[in-house]
Amino acid sequence: MIGNFIYNTPTKLFFGKDSINGLPEVVGQYGKNVLLTYGGGSIKKMGLYDKVKELLKDFNIVELSGIEPNPKYDPSVITGAKLCKENNIDVILAVGGGSVLDCSKAISVCSLYDGEGWDLISGKVKATKSIPVVDIITLAATGSEYDAGCVISNTAINDKRGYVDGILYPVASFLDPQYTFSVSKWQTACGTADAINHVLEQFFAKPNNAFNDGFMISAIRSLMKNVKIALENPSDYDARSELMYVCTLACNGIMSNGSGYSGWPMHSIEHALSAYFDITHGAGLAIITPRWMKEILSENTVERFVTLGKLLFGFDSMPDFDMANKVIDEFYTFFESIGIPMHLGELGVKVDKIEEMADHILENDNTSNEWMYAPLDKDALIHILTESM
Ligand code: NZQ
Ligand code: ZN
Repeated sequence: MIGNFIYNTPTKLFFGKDSINGLPEVVGQYGKNVLLTYGGGSIKKMGLYDKVKELLKDFNIVELSGIEPNPKYDPSVITGAKLCKENNIDVILAVGGGSVLDCSKAISVCSLYDGEGWDLISGKVKATKSIPVVDIITLAATGSEYDAGCVISNTAINDKRGYVDGILYPVASFLDPQYTFSVSKWQTACGTADAINHVLEQFFAKPNNAFNDGFMISAIRSLMKNVKIALENPSDYDARSELMYVCTLACNGIMSNGSGYSGWPMHSIEHALSAYFDITHGAGLAIITPRWMKEILSENTVERFVTLGKLLFGFDSMPDFDMANKVIDEFYTFFESIGIPMHLGELGVKVDKIEEMADHILENDNTSNEWMYAPLDKDALIHILTESM
């Protein structure tokens, strides 16, 4: 059954080799004053910074560099918002991974708000205005280039918030897989794990239907296959292009139109881990995934595992719970095979913070809500985190 839904992604995608040549025309639609945002320098090393400056030579460019992975409200969002106000910025051009995009989306609303920007990000106040965001995404992972979300950390209060609002969609995203050739093995693996998790967060939902199941399973199969090729040969265009496209669709919601909403519990857990220990998002998710699966496996959920077992892994018939456990093992082994350490302790997470993190997760996202696909109370959260250590 396909349930009722409204789907509207206003972001224009420019996909493919040298697609960024169309940048001046697109940026020019919004004005001359551009805030160019980027991270710690990867775009300079790969020559993309020079290329962008050349393409936009007729524009007035102000720069915000040094945006951190797990982007921080203070200083990055605050500084960017200030630069927009001081320089009468018409359009933000974000060049980098999901962190640069997310930070730019947050800047786009905070810069036009007179109060404390964190009130918008934490959902206390609804934004009504934003500066248009155009982006060149350089890492296949988050799908921020095609979704209405941004995730911002506030280190002062150990918080990392997912902020979702239609106002945050980029107006245009440029996706040239060639600019992902330089992504490290670690980020390639973590980015793919993130996207696989985005699909799983949508797959484990009720109601569901055969079409969306097929769409999602095809996405996971493509990610699993192509990440191995990209790890072996980072400049393999075919593999990088498929990774990029699937990641772009995986967080947009298009794969679960008409299905139920799960509540994205693994992301709630991971955001607390990143808030407390600044770990890489995709690695945290990969570690949590099999433990979360074990926790929620029950008569109510076993059908989802069996569908994955048959359609994704091609398992023959066997007792349902045996197949479910085999599916969980497959995911564990796969993440391990792409180089992700499968224990949180290896990423620096400390066991003495688990209870505090569980409280934090419940406070931010209330994973114990009865409407969720598989509600998680405090004991369940503590169990998942402890098992993941
Ligand atoms: O800072 P630079 O020098 O650019 O280096 C980055 C960074 O160190 C590097 N990198 C990016 N593109 C590269 C590259 N290195 C070489 N070549 C390239 N082409 O990779 C490192 C990580 O970058 P980052 O942007 O942090 O990674 P990612 O794209 O995985 O983004 C992670 C952030 O997105 C959030 C996560 O929580 C995390 O904060 N998420 C955002 C979502 C969204 N907007 O919808 C959904 C996700 O679930 C996720 O929560
Ligand atoms: Zn994610």
